[in-house]
Amino acid sequence: MNVLDFVQRKRDSRKISMTTCYDYWSARIVETSDIDCVLVGDSAAMVMHGHQSTLQADIAMMAFHTSAVARGLRTKFLIADMPFLSYRRGPDATLECVAALVRAGAAALKLEGVWGHEDTITRVIGSGIPIMGHVGLTPQSVLGLGGFRVQGRDERVAEDLVAQARRLEELGCFAVVLECVPATVAAAITSALSIPTIGIGAGVDVDGQVLVLHDLLGFGGEFKPKFLKQYFDGTTHILRALNSFHSETQLRQFPSDAESYS
Ligand code: KIV
Repeated sequence: MNVLDFVQRKRDSRKISMTTCYDYWSARIVETSDIDCVLVGDSAAMVMHGHQSTLQADIAMMAFHTSAVARGLRTKFLIADMPFLSYRRGPDATLECVAALVRAGAAALKLEGVWGHEDTITRVIGSGIPIMGHVGLTPQSVLGLGGFRVQGRDERVAEDLVAQARRLEELGCFAVVLECVPATVAAAITSALSIPTIGIGAGVDVDGQVLVLHDLLGFGGEFKPKFLKQYFDGTTHILRALNSFHSETQLRQFPSDAESYS
């Protein structure tokens, strides 16, 4: 998949699947899967580093994870998140961050919101770097939003979400993530745009779906929002394997002759 395929997939009504990835070994697994594209999300700050929000992600953290993932991918389209404030300091400062992530291996970048950084988006796209937008629950604004909560339940906010998504399309973004918005609002945005929408907690009437890898594989712990479907019970399986290794060590069952040198 490349950046031009996104709009084509919408035209062909072929849904897009995206998952996050933060390291080399999981990137190698995702590479051999049917998943369409990979996001090095700033959720790395929470999933990989144990922070309470994505506000702790910075450009060094994002470049570090992006380069590890890029080494594990061969064919998948790789998008990296621009972290908190990295695109709010004006076009020149933003371009430094853009360069770091592109040099780390990103084929496109994602950033949250639109109001207040329209010039920056224009400048980055004008520099030849594809941008994916992100509206709805924008975790980098969690303090202003008063928590991680569904956005667009009231009409005024819903209208603003439609306006933001339209503006992102006008500015030249190739796709927009819709996070935690009512399904009806996501459907309205999807039909108002000619670029694809990729939903997370946005219902089925969008052009694609994204989930955090660790959540869909069952490594999310207590984090089980309504929108999440767990496709694997990873924690249980890993615990079983670790405990088998431990008990076979205690019982002198491992290593057997098969794992020993003569
Ligand atoms: O950082 C992230 O993982 C994301 C997805 C939830 C879309 O932005």
